[in-house]
Amino acid sequence: MPYAIQIRLTGGPEVLNWTPIKVGEPGSGQVRLRQAAAGVNYMDLYHRTGSYSEPLPFIPGVEGAGIVEAIGQAVRGLKVGDRVAYAGPAGGYSEVRLIEADRLVRLPDAISFDQAAAMMLQGMTAQVLIRQVYPVKAGDLILVHAAAGGTGLILCQWAAALGATVIGTVSTEAKAELAHAHGCKHSILYSKQDFVAEVSRISGGEKLPVVFDSVGKDTFLRSLDCLRSRGLMVTFGQSSGPIDPIVPVLLREKGSLFLTRPLLFHYIARREELESSANELFDVVASGKVRIKINQRFALKDAADAHKALEARATSGSTVLTI
Ligand SMILES: NC(=O)c1ccc[n+]([C@@H]2O[C@H](COP(=O)([O-])OP(=O)(O)OC[C@H]3O[C@@H](n4cnc5c(N)ncnc54)[C@H](OP(=O)(O)O)[C@@H]3O)[C@@H](O)[C@H]2O)c1
Repeated sequence: MPYAIQIRLTGGPEVLNWTPIKVGEPGSGQVRLRQAAAGVNYMDLYHRTGSYSEPLPFIPGVEGAGIVEAIGQAVRGLKVGDRVAYAGPAGGYSEVRLIEADRLVRLPDAISFDQAAAMMLQGMTAQVLIRQVYPVKAGDLILVHAAAGGTGLILCQWAAALGATVIGTVSTEAKAELAHAHGCKHSILYSKQDFVAEVSRISGGEKLPVVFDSVGKDTFLRSLDCLRSRGLMVTFGQSSGPIDPIVPVLLREKGSLFLTRPLLFHYIARREELESSANELFDVVASGKVRIKINQRFALKDAADAHKALEARATSGSTVLTI
């Protein structure tokens, strides 16, 4: 019988149980996927703690890659043996799973299972942020918070490849070095330095057209002060906690700012959107413009250790569970 990590009660990392599961045959529109690797994302922590609530028992994990093992009725464009990957439908922390076929994309030969599991969610998020939410262009000076994180490292490299100059915040010197080696021109140790003052200095007082903020509570308000008049605040995560409510007039006071809170899944809901985002990601990775940095690998059954590391701010780049 295959095994999975299951949550029966929400809570700390100890609620992640290594459990045998029945998978069964794929229903109409589904395939059975034998996974080779699963990604670890901040969203998994929210599912585990219950801050994003799901019916229990629940198998976390919103990203994975593997081989199609069986096909249900009404599935087009996939066959047994295909190498595929996904970001989205939860249930990724399993050796074998059922999944809707229209959420899978075929993997090019140039992309390994580990790379795919490390990048599908964070990489398509980067694609959405800098190619759709704010199309980054040559000459832009932009701010990326948590620049050495999984999403952060991809954002830095991709934005630099588009000709932007990236300012990134990080908590340690080691993370600053890593971000620097991945496209981040100016790093700010936001644990020690005032990032608003640093952004003002680096931009010669001009400030920025856009800020990409995944940190949330600790950075949100001061990020608004990094924006020039009519700049765009992109708050896309809350690693430090949820943002306190704000009143819209604050945006006027800070310079007629724009504010958006995007979620990847709303941008890849339609099949053609998913394919377009995934294909752009595959292209920048296959071309070498974006390198997927897997800095933590754990066996699937040790998913709790991966969660502890992510929560402790002890990770950089992407984290993968190997199967
Ligand atoms: N909207 C979307 O569709 C979408 C998609 C993907 C990810 N996200 C969000 O983006 C964020 C980053 O996700 P990720 O998977 O790429 O994680 P990550 O950035 O690799 O890890 C989180 C990083 O946040 C920083 N951080 C700052 N304050 C923190 C705190 N109090 N506790 C823990 N970490 C803190 C840490 O970097 P430093 O040590 O350098 O500060 C940490 O390494 C998450 O909030 C996630 O939910 C959103």
